[in-house]
Amino acid sequence: MKIFFTKVPDPIIRLVIVFGVFFGVILFVRGFVIPKELKEKGIHRTSAIERELASEIHYAGSGICAECHDEEYDLKNEGYHQKLSCEVCHGPAMEHTEEPDDFTPPAPRQRKFCPECHTYNPSRPTGFPQINPVAHNPLRPCIDCHNPHDPKPLTVPRECSACHAQIAITKAGSHHVMLECTVCHDTPDEHKSTPRLIRAGKPVKRDLCASCHDKDSGVKEVPKIDVYTHGEKYVCWQCHSPHMPEVNHE
Ligand code: HEC
Ligand code: HEC
Ligand code: HEC
Ligand code: HEC
Ligand code: HEC
Ligand code: HEC
Ligand code: HEC
Ligand code: HEC
Repeated sequence: MKIFFTKVPDPIIRLVIVFGVFFGVILFVRGFVIPKELKEKGIHRTSAIERELASEIHYAGSGICAECHDEEYDLKNEGYHQKLSCEVCHGPAMEHTEEPDDFTPPAPRQRKFCPECHTYNPSRPTGFPQINPVAHNPLRPCIDCHNPHDPKPLTVPRECSACHAQIAITKAGSHHVMLECTVCHDTPDEHKSTPRLIRAGKPVKRDLCASCHDKDSGVKEVPKIDVYTHGEKYVCWQCHSPHMPEVNHE
């Protein structure tokens, strides 16, 4: 057979025929096998849509709480917990919004509740406020000291480790244990009270590391390299973790 004056090889033609027959059969069978209710709503069964629409609604959403609890609502929306929905802590409250006197949602007053989000856990994002519940003011409920609707930090944390625990722990076990964080990070004081507004600085140049490690630097008891030849084109932290610098001394 000839298409556009080139000869199409026979095996290709046979392959095209096989595929054609294959898909033809599938389309034909599909027309008979697939139940009617699946065809009506695309990939969803009509009966499944009806079932979901009929199921009871448990969560009312945050907006509606404001109608009767504007004080808590306004307080929360100004503070650190503004991204939390009321029902994250108070549980599903649809019934309560419909009949507030017959159903009251529970309030999580026990100490064990808040650590579900605030227990130290290295996988949480950097800067997320975390505590060690065993050591942090034990035995008293969290709400003795923190208002759950406006959990202000009672005092501005003094240490970087309050919010960067993972990095602090890493550095404490490293050769850089004696280095203050601020040797490398120019950090305005306001970063500790409003960390997302006032950012901390990060090193951008090799000079910072070289100020201690270059063979010509006067700093004593620090392993030395020649900053002009050692790993030249790259910033030092592409090869050495600044919080855990390691060298293979074999
Ligand atoms: C129609 C008005 C109304 C709406 C809407 C409403 N509440 Fe209430 N809520 C009340 C009333 C009235 C009480 C006091 C009931 C009582 O003391 O028995 C109350 C009490 C509470 C309590 C106190 C329970 C305790 O242990 O003291 C909590 C918590 C609460 N509501 C949470 C919510 C949440 C969360 C929402 C939104 C999902 C909400 N409410 C929506 C009227 C409402
Ligand atoms: C971080 C968890 C948390 C969130 C989010 C939260 N609450 Fe509460 N809420 C609590 C706790 C804990 C108490 C108990 C406070 C106490 O007994 O001092 C409480 C108490 C209440 C009470 C009872 C009044 C009182 O002060 O004892 C109401 C009403 C209430 N919350 C409504 C709301 C509403 C409305 C929202 C959303 C705008 C909301 N809460 C969001 C944890 C939370
Ligand atoms: C569902 C998760 C969640 C629960 C439960 C929760 N929190 Fe929070 N908390 C947050 C988030 C998110 C922030 C804001 C973090 C941010 O701004 O980066 C926050 C911020 C805070 C802060 C501010 C700390 C600071 O210095 O920035 C305190 C204090 C706090 N929560 C205490 C509590 C207490 C007490 C409870 C229990 C009543 C509680 N939290 C329950 C998620 C939670
Ligand atoms: C006796 C009062 C008290 C109790 C109880 C308490 N805290 Fe705190 N919390 C503080 C103070 C004060 C700070 C300020 C930082 C510091 O000095 O440790 C703070 C800071 C925090 C921070 C911010 C991180 C930091 O180190 O700055 C979080 C999150 C927090 N608390 C959560 C909780 C949770 C969750 C509970 C309950 C398991 C709880 N707190 C119980 C007094 C208390
Ligand atoms: C109250 C909590 C808190 C304290 C205390 C704190 N930080 Fe942060 N830090 C954060 C948060 C939250 C972020 C993430 C900011 C963002 O991503 O917008 C951050 C980000 C950073 C960054 C990364 C900046 C970037 O652009 O990637 C550095 C570096 C840093 N902090 C250093 C420090 C140093 C050094 C200290 C102590 C002098 C310190 N921080 C104390 C909460 C804190
Ligand atoms: C020897 C210098 C040095 C010291 C000391 C140091 N850092 Fe860093 N830090 C760096 C460098 C360099 C980077 C950038 C790494 C990158 O971009 O890959 C960085 C990145 C960061 C970041 C952002 C990246 C991340 O992993 O989240 C934070 C937050 C941070 N440092 C916090 C701290 C804190 C807190 C301390 C003290 C406990 C500290 N650093 C001590 C050099 C240092
Ligand atoms: C303020 C001085 C100072 C600065 C700045 C500094 N370091 Fe260090 N560095 C040290 C000291 C002190 C040691 C550890 C000496 C010891 O353990 O005996 C060290 C050790 C090291 C080691 C050797 C680890 C080993 O296994 O022997 C490396 C690699 C290193 N630093 C890389 C860096 C990098 C990368 C930077 C820049 C992000 C940097 N340093 C910034 C002081 C500094
Ligand atoms: C391309 C990767 C790379 C870069 C970039 C790099 N290094 Fe290294 N560095 C190494 C390797 C690999 C070793 C271990 C082998 C050696 O001694 O040459 C090492 C060793 C070191 C040592 C230990 C020397 C000793 O005698 O114990 C120090 C200190 C050091 N580097 C600091 C730095 C500093 C500071 C920078 C930035 C100016 C930097 N490095 C950039 C790969 C790198």
